[in-house]
Amino acid sequence: MGIRIGVLISGGGTNLQAILDACQDGRIDGQVVFVGSDVSGVRGLERAEKAGVPTFVVDYSETRKKYFANPGEFRWCRPNDSEIGKVFYEKYFSTKAHNIRAFGGFVNFAWRMTFEKLMLMQLNEHQIDLLVLAGFMRVLSPYFIDQMNQDQDKPRIMNIHPALLPAFPGTDGYGDTFRYGCKVGGCTVHFVDYGEDTGPIIGQRAVPNLPDDTLENFKKKGLLQEWELYPECIQLFAEGRLKVVELENGRRVVDIMPK
Ligand code: GRF
Repeated sequence: MGIRIGVLISGGGTNLQAILDACQDGRIDGQVVFVGSDVSGVRGLERAEKAGVPTFVVDYSETRKKYFANPGEFRWCRPNDSEIGKVFYEKYFSTKAHNIRAFGGFVNFAWRMTFEKLMLMQLNEHQIDLLVLAGFMRVLSPYFIDQMNQDQDKPRIMNIHPALLPAFPGTDGYGDTFRYGCKVGGCTVHFVDYGEDTGPIIGQRAVPNLPDDTLENFKKKGLLQEWELYPECIQLFAEGRLKVVELENGRRVVDIMPK
């Protein structure tokens, strides 16, 4: 049966499809046990349903509106103030060192933790070995990450990013690479840490940006690589071959163990 994989998406889900296909044809020794989305009605959810995989949605924008209109309504799922304070002061300030500005002040952070709690409640319905972010467009806070990674040396959240990190973190990797005029771009699969696209790198694929490329076909070339790279990296995880080690310079990196 292999590993149990949970997938979070926000959109079209072509990476999700690649992962579902790889589970189906044995390139990944595992199965997708749920697909969650922070946006309603996206194509990725249809893909999951078609594959018979349970889905859930915690709509970020809708829920945020409701939360700020009437925070009292969320008392049942909002982490308590001391829990929020602990994560905010002890962890969030250290995330600032990783250049995260996404969460705002305490009030916004409390909302963010409430949203993440709602996601975690859904996640906890399923036992998973690995959480895969496949076009999930939210930065996760230390609150969520710590709940998934009980053991810091065995991270369990993977992300795919559309650039050769550490170049061009953020939401538009292919666009940023293209507009900078880079001669190569590509994609990166990495474990998620407290920073935005800063975690230990598992795998990368490069694609050339040729003189007659448009942004559209440059993206297409990148995505073709993503659909191969992500299943490969997930399979390395399934085989227990990914080890996070700390270098002398303090940087945490992934060693790929031989078979
Ligand atoms: C991909 O380019 C991925 O690298 C980025 O978001 C895009 C998602 O595409 N994180 P899809 O939803 O998998 O089609």
